[in-house]
Amino acid sequence: MTGRYTVDDRLPADHYHRALREDVEAGLTATPRTLSPKWFYDARGSVLFDRITRLPEYYLTRAERMVLRAHAAEIAELTGARTLVELGSGSSDKTRLLLDALTAAGTLERYVPLDVSRAALGEAAESIARAYPALAVTGVLADFEQDLAIPSPAEAGPRLMAFLGSTVGNLDTEQRAAFLSRLRGALTGGDAVLLGVDLVKDPARMVRAYDDQQGVTADFDKNLLTVLNRELGADFEPGAFDHRAVWNPEEERMEMRLRARVPVSVALKAMDLTVDFARGEEIRTEISVKFRHERLADELSAAGFTLDHWWTDPQERFGVALALPTA
Ligand code: SAH
Ligand code: AVI
Repeated sequence: MTGRYTVDDRLPADHYHRALREDVEAGLTATPRTLSPKWFYDARGSVLFDRITRLPEYYLTRAERMVLRAHAAEIAELTGARTLVELGSGSSDKTRLLLDALTAAGTLERYVPLDVSRAALGEAAESIARAYPALAVTGVLADFEQDLAIPSPAEAGPRLMAFLGSTVGNLDTEQRAAFLSRLRGALTGGDAVLLGVDLVKDPARMVRAYDDQQGVTADFDKNLLTVLNRELGADFEPGAFDHRAVWNPEEERMEMRLRARVPVSVALKAMDLTVDFARGEEIRTEISVKFRHERLADELSAAGFTLDHWWTDPQERFGVALALPTA
């Protein structure tokens, strides 16, 4: 076994051009101004996110890893998965706990990491294929809001869909409802969804997680401007913006924002668009919804899932739900 893998590029050829332009046009001309977090993850953004996961303040990854370590064998037993599909797989690092458990249980044949970041996906698929040579590793480069690309139940079921890291919290309520319904539509009895969600807690702790002392999260946030400079010929000066992490108590979510330190006029050459920022004006670059068990159970139920199992780390910072299609 040589640890071979494939990557299926399903992104439309004009992904960066059409989809990014549409997002940027709608977001930068809206009130408040917004940008979609999916554009953070070019090669540098993916490296910066990986550094975030190791920061002392960013408890999410460590807490979720604790849950997976404690319950991976049970998850393997409950799902009997032949295929593990992972949405927004990134480095696929925590996934190894699931791969180990499902391999030990003897059911797993295939791992399908799906991510919009070419850089992250290629590296992860290669290293997982090397570490698990008996596994078929078939990466999918796609936007999970547009294209779920799940192998059919006949060739791959039962399928376990993992969506870890609380990435589901980067979608707003409407986007989440649409996403969960589409996911439900792609699944059948016997399949399961493993959903990792960050939980509501002391706001000061959450703010620290999104505004670390070393400034890695600030660099990650401002990297979005660098992506726009490269892809859309924009002339953002990242140093002209301050990174902010704000707890929004009404929506129970963290928000990352970039605030203009001075009046700034930005030209986006590829789009024939100029955006003027007053001093103090902000762009909301990410929402990160924090969950409670009840809210999650309700959202899953509305989409046609039943929350079957629920685990948290001992400090109840992070929850992992196993959801099954409602019969
Ligand atoms: N699951 C990993 C990585 C989380 S970072 C973890 O738990 O640590 C979020 C990942 O989701 C990034 O790799 C990013 O490229 C990917 N992502 C974000 N939006 C996406 C989208 N719309 N479609 C596919 N992948 C997306
Ligand atoms: C990927 N996602 C769930 C992370 C989060 O916590 O919302 C991205 C991130 N943003 C800032 N730090 C990490």
